[in-house]
Amino acid sequence: MEFLYSILFAGHMLGLAAIIGSFFVQLRRKSDFVLSPTLYGAIVQVVTGVGLVGIAEATDHDLDMVKFSVKLGIAVIVLAAAIVAVVQQRKGGKVQPLFHAAGGLAIVNVLVAVFW
Ligand code: HEM
Repeated sequence: MEFLYSILFAGHMLGLAAIIGSFFVQLRRKSDFVLSPTLYGAIVQVVTGVGLVGIAEATDHDLDMVKFSVKLGIAVIVLAAAIVAVVQQRKGGKVQPLFHAAGGLAIVNVLVAVFW
């Protein structure tokens, strides 16, 4: 279980890096966003995050469920923003606000993870 937890935690850190790394790299762009790191990173965050909570519960580790519910809520908004951004990009619509919302909220989730 501990090994699986470590694997999921490593995935969690890599998913975070994908979203926030691509956010910083493309911060000044107005168009032509590369959205796959944001989209796949957001999917990875939700899947690994829920997996981590599941393992912690199964091994009787005490977790602050309010904190992780808030994190899940924010991560779902990040994922929704990424999905809508991909759809908008295909239609030739505006992507910048959605890209910024996804990156900004991922940073908020880092702050929630670290300071709560
Ligand atoms: C954009 C989405 C997310 C980001 C940026 C993020 C960020 C982080 C960071 C920086 C950590 C390491 C700091 C720490 O251990 O306290 C962490 C750990 C963790 N996150 Fe997330 N997270 C996200 C989504 C989620 C979701 C959706 C869940 C589950 C509902 C979740 C559950 C966890 C758990 C269980 C840990 C390990 C806590 C521990 O072992 O003490 N995360 N996350």
